[in-house]
Amino acid sequence: MRILLLTHSFNSLTQRLFGLLRQQGHDVSVELDIADVVTEEAVALFKPDLVLAPFLKRRIPESVWARTVCLVVHPGVPGDRGPSALDWMMMRGDAQWGVTVLQAAEEMDAGEVWAWEPFDVRPQATKSSLYRREVTQAAVVAVGRALARFVPGQLAPAAASGAQNDASRSGQWHALMPQSARRIDWARDTTPVVLRKIAAGDGFPGVLDVLWGQPCRLFDAHPASYAVMNPFAASLPGEVLARRGPALLKRTVDGAVWIGHVRPDDGTAARADGTSVLKLAATRVFATQVANLPELAAPLMRDDDEWDELRYREFGSEGARVGWLDFEFHNGAMSERQCMRLRDALRWVRTRPTQVLVLAGGQDFFSNGIHLHDIEAAQRVAGDSAADASWRNINAIDDAALEVLTLTDRITVAALHGNAGAGGCFLALAADVVWAHAGVVLNPHYKNMGNLYGSEYWTYSLPRRLGEAASLTLMQQRLPLSAPEAVANGVLDDCFGADGGAFSAQVLARCLTMAAAPDLAQRLETKQAQREHDEMQKSLATYRDEELTRIKRNFYGFDPSYHVARHHFVFRKPHAWTPRHLALHRELKPASTTPKPT
Ligand code: COA
Repeated sequence: MRILLLTHSFNSLTQRLFGLLRQQGHDVSVELDIADVVTEEAVALFKPDLVLAPFLKRRIPESVWARTVCLVVHPGVPGDRGPSALDWMMMRGDAQWGVTVLQAAEEMDAGEVWAWEPFDVRPQATKSSLYRREVTQAAVVAVGRALARFVPGQLAPAAASGAQNDASRSGQWHALMPQSARRIDWARDTTPVVLRKIAAGDGFPGVLDVLWGQPCRLFDAHPASYAVMNPFAASLPGEVLARRGPALLKRTVDGAVWIGHVRPDDGTAARADGTSVLKLAATRVFATQVANLPELAAPLMRDDDEWDELRYREFGSEGARVGWLDFEFHNGAMSERQCMRLRDALRWVRTRPTQVLVLAGGQDFFSNGIHLHDIEAAQRVAGDSAADASWRNINAIDDAALEVLTLTDRITVAALHGNAGAGGCFLALAADVVWAHAGVVLNPHYKNMGNLYGSEYWTYSLPRRLGEAASLTLMQQRLPLSAPEAVANGVLDDCFGADGGAFSAQVLARCLTMAAAPDLAQRLETKQAQREHDEMQKSLATYRDEELTRIKRNFYGFDPSYHVARHHFVFRKPHAWTPRHLALHRELKPASTTPKPT
């Protein structure tokens, strides 16, 4: 089939469907939903059998849906309608939810249901996390079923079979959730209620609150343990008590929560340091106010209920032991501070008696590379600049990658539980073995960020897996790769497990076997010999110098593309046109008939 993906942005769900549909042999092109005339033009150029809309914020024009089957993915059960579907469901505390694929019609989310798929709502998950995992997986299933009902030349679906018939419309229209419905009453709301409210607004729009008199939106909340809370038993609900990494400890009526990230509200856009409208680490936004708060550092090895960004565990018996390092950085973005923490953790992990080290990254993202929000914020800090902050950040992530590349006395395994993008992908490729679960999407390239050259030793790690020519093609194509595609072209060694949970269990089992294997010593000898041989051929320091020389031009050179692209990315500026590498239909016509970027 010729399938046009019409979408507000090329987000994770759209990327997953893009990879899947192409793998199934469909002809897939993408048009970002910019304006009705642009959508009409895309349909006229591509002549799709079907338009699929994974993520829309506006209606599809009647001129399109009246002539072509347009299927919309709605993150709600049949009958549920409105723009805050997940937010309302989470605030109600539903245990089950679903994803519906329905036909675009006059009224939004009210067309014929072609298919739907239920899922269990993971307790304590944030909205973004549910979207990236359960919603995306259910959408993949529901889209597959809907496509099976497509009859060429017909606007109506073929009759549904089995479970597909059960599309009783239990839901209803829910308006956009206002901040008044999200508001936290610190004097009354218990810890689970506070966490639920923040989780339901995660990603966007956050929960409007006030910290030190400053209105701001709260994100990235975690429960505090009893041990952390105990010394502050006499404090009052709403008080900020301490800090840890990016987070503030805030008292609730029955405990406390860690608040990792905040976005000062737009009304304060005039703040001198320009950080006012960016989502940043809470301790960065309120650096002055937190200076006198106690810093409650947590050891890498600790009880499960003690939150921090990094955690290290060990499994197996002496001589066949597996170390497991989680680095759960919000949104997979790694600031200079976070890279340094990871580097230090890797240095400490070296001292542990393990045979295999698993780099597990975060559950939703393995890593997305350097922290573009943090870099943007440096733009307006006196004595700093985005170029300087980029330079510091890329050096810090390189330092972390170097620790992995030079860890030759054990096998290193990167286990991707979530997606990875740009430098985050190449951080993973620093390991000896790279695995992901089947739902992971990789973006192993940098060019989408204003033609960025990249570092993280990619010029060493990628060609040693793919060879020079295939590496160059991958970097130039700038397309997402589904995990099975990445295995097929050699970026990944394997993908297995239906989801993150199943994947984790299988990774551990495989690593324990690897750690106990009789040929481990031989394997490590080969690894060390290979590293020494590679170092003789060309040192890691040389690879790094060459990459940094190129990327320095992106940061400090006369071409501002990277700075412009980063600015657009962090402020979520609407797209003015669809990138050509996605809008394949725009290559079909002579250049004179294609619209010019505005
Ligand atoms: N720095 C800071 N924030 C980042 C980030 C980064 N490198 N990568 C992603 N994020 C944030 C986004 O701003 C977004 O924040 P929000 O939830 O507050 O809106 C969140 O992570 C999710 O990103 P999104 O783009 O919605 O996720 P996606 O799964 O649809 O797309 C990527 C994934 C990797 C394709 C996309 O996020 C991306 O291009 N990131 C930048 C990668 C990069 O160029 N890194 C720098 C070079 S190493």
